Amino acid sequence: MTDTATTSGPELPQRTRTVPSQIAASVLRFDPAETVQELLDSEMVLAALTVFAEFKVADHLAGGPLPLQDLAERCAVDPARLERILRILIPRGFVRRDPTDGLYHLELVGQTMRSGVPGSMRPAVLTRAFPLWVDAARMLPATVRTGRPAAVAEHGAPYDYLAERPEKRALFQEFMTARSTAIGQSLVEQDLSKVQHIVDVGGGRGTILAALLRDNPHCMGTLLERDDVVQAAEEFLGKAGLQDRCAFVAGDFFTGIPTEGDLYLLASILHNYDDERAHAILKQVHVAMAPTPQSVLWCVDWILPDNGMRHPALAADIKMLSLFPGGKERTRTAYRELLSGAGFTTAKIVPLTAGPSLIIAQPVRQ
Ligand SMILES: C[S@@+](CC[C@H](N)C(=O)[O-])C[C@H]1O[C@@H](n2cnc3c(N)ncnc32)[C@H](O)[C@@H]1O
Repeated sequence: MTDTATTSGPELPQRTRTVPSQIAASVLRFDPAETVQELLDSEMVLAALTVFAEFKVADHLAGGPLPLQDLAERCAVDPARLERILRILIPRGFVRRDPTDGLYHLELVGQTMRSGVPGSMRPAVLTRAFPLWVDAARMLPATVRTGRPAAVAEHGAPYDYLAERPEKRALFQEFMTARSTAIGQSLVEQDLSKVQHIVDVGGGRGTILAALLRDNPHCMGTLLERDDVVQAAEEFLGKAGLQDRCAFVAGDFFTGIPTEGDLYLLASILHNYDDERAHAILKQVHVAMAPTPQSVLWCVDWILPDNGMRHPALAADIKMLSLFPGGKERTRTAYRELLSGAGFTTAKIVPLTAGPSLIIAQPVRQ
């Protein structure tokens, strides 16, 4: 059965389409202004979520349900105001209020906001609230106008901003650890039986390197990081009991990369840079790589879709635009071209269950 939906208006040409009745009904109910209003309202949901994260509501409820008064006392906040914060998060699955006894229970989505649990989303929410991150979104129109991240001009470049604020840097690293744990779990599905030495370039705390070393006891590793981060990596791999299989190098991937590897890893690095700077990093990797047939480069980043559908890479791309001069996510074609320009052939692009893709490339030797 079909209905005929007709739209007309002064600015739009009259269009007549024949569509199935169910779709027609949902189209007729669709209010375009509501879509915009929902986006505007989501800002308040995010603000409430930041309060939820800051006051550690999920941690307080992790031991069991609590009445509002007790929960407010643990959060050291006024109960009436806390109730309003909880109310907007109830329909989103963070908490539930039992109508019989009024106790607040932590729900499935709220569980992800507990601190210190693997994959916790709390550091991601708190990082999003850093003044640089908030201003990056607020000042996006100026960034789009000039092509230069306006918030960076005010606060400094992200990694320098973090270096000057060790508490924020630790939170950012926790956020990256949560993301990179999932990436590490996806990467261990790859066969590393022929690899002997992994060099993790800009490896952060070393979450991915730790996963690869743990799963491949025959491999050694080297992690290159900025000098303000490398100690956190030593601690992280130390806690994982992997310190004897890993070397740590404080340095700059624009000026030199350790040479002993046969697998080089660039995870969430290239998207921070424009093509020229990304090319410069890739050239450094090319120079460092041993001229053996098994030498391989793994890049892990989002791949931009070209089908007009919703995709996490699209938001990641705007984040790069707002925070890093020239930073961007790339399409498959753009990665192939970037790699080819720096002397690599792209062997495979593998979508990872964690979301981003693994781009496997090999150096071309003349
Ligand atoms: C987005 S994080 C990715 C961390 C890690 N690869 C991961 O996926 O978990 C980017 C990392 O690059 C490091 N970094 C930035 N500029 C660098 C440079 N010039 N030399 C070495 N590391 C750098 C930062 O300190 C940060 O830890």
